[in-house]
Amino acid sequence: MIKGFIFDLDGVITDTAELHYEAWKKLSDEMSWDFDRELNEKLRGISRMDSIKVIMDHNKVTLEEQTVIDLATKKNDLYVASLDHMTPEDYLPGAKELLTHLRTEGFSVALGSASKNALKVLQQLNAMPYFDVIGDGNSVTKSKPEPDIFLYAAEKLRLPPNNCIVVEDAEKGIDAAKAGGFHSVGIGPEDRVGHADLRFDTMKEATLFEVKSHFADLF
Ligand code: BG6
Ligand code: MG
Repeated sequence: MIKGFIFDLDGVITDTAELHYEAWKKLSDEMSWDFDRELNEKLRGISRMDSIKVIMDHNKVTLEEQTVIDLATKKNDLYVASLDHMTPEDYLPGAKELLTHLRTEGFSVALGSASKNALKVLQQLNAMPYFDVIGDGNSVTKSKPEPDIFLYAAEKLRLPPNNCIVVEDAEKGIDAAKAGGFHSVGIGPEDRVGHADLRFDTMKEATLFEVKSHFADLF
């Protein structure tokens, strides 16, 4: 039986990829590192420290660990400042409708995000009331593709993984859901989330009706 839903945040509830891109781009320009939207796609779903390592590897750069931490902090300060402009108008189309529907139908709902800024994003969106449990980048140490954040959220919801559906836009997020024994819904193109149990191009198509139709035996 499906009793709970666990949502990724960035790229599922709201589109922060562009804000992350702008912050990494600014840092990269200052460092004279090559960084473009194609490389930004590789950062989808992974932690801040894993992200800077991907950018440095791409540029064949090695630095002392403390310097890397300082640079990641600099990027984060830029990103957090840009979140001040986010408003309750900034849900991805369909996201608020699905969250509202899950509330009215009485499902348990958790957040399972790699971001350490998840609370700020949820507050900017006025989205806190949709969630029973918040799992974010501060909740676990091992990030996606490890399943830890989803296992944390399910445990807090007091549900086993096979009673939960994870909604994710990142390849590594679907990997994490599968590794944890969760059912999965992928948001995005086939070449990114085609390995999910069910896939939609955007959140707009991801209605509770469609999800229930696909997982009919589980509801
Ligand atoms: C994920 C994003 O949700 O959070 C990644 O998809 C980001 O791009 C990661 O790197 C960590 O976010 P933050 O806010 O802790 O830097
Ligand atoms: Mg995401």
